Amino acid sequence: MEIHRFEKLWLAAGILLIVGFIATVTYGAVGEGVAMVNDDGGTIDPTKVSEDANFSDPGVEQVGPHEYEAHIVAQQFLFKPGTSTPIRVPANSTVTFYVTSSDVVHGFNIVGTNVNTMVIPGQVAKMKVRFEEPREYGIVCNEYCGAGHHTMAGTIEVVPEDDYEGGA
Ligand code: CUA
Repeated sequence: MEIHRFEKLWLAAGILLIVGFIATVTYGAVGEGVAMVNDDGGTIDPTKVSEDANFSDPGVEQVGPHEYEAHIVAQQFLFKPGTSTPIRVPANSTVTFYVTSSDVVHGFNIVGTNVNTMVIPGQVAKMKVRFEEPREYGIVCNEYCGAGHHTMAGTIEVVPEDDYEGGA
């Protein structure tokens, strides 16, 4: 069968595109540094967040050498901690974030990183993040959560290891 040269070119381009799409999707799912937020964090009664052992006094605590856990409550229209006091962690640390909401659906996006999750009442979102260098990160809520949504933001301060005196 005779296939025209342009026909062959078009066929090759089509196959290349399909391979490219599959590669993109594969990278987006299992690529290095890419992790999905799943239901690992467990569930919580959203009406009793303030009575929960981990979330009644949320914040950062050290759980091992260079290992920290940060419990954060998202509510209309702030992160606790994060908004009125920054979340402070030392550089050269791995921080596991546990974020939950006591009212409506919020977002938790650490600006400039791939840390980004919905914060759903009743669910605890769990994410592990590595902080190498001292710097400041912004946190934004990127799910519309009410009249003050656009003001809902916070800060993470990654401080030099030697200056660290506990989290906020
Ligand atoms: Cu919280 Cu938008």
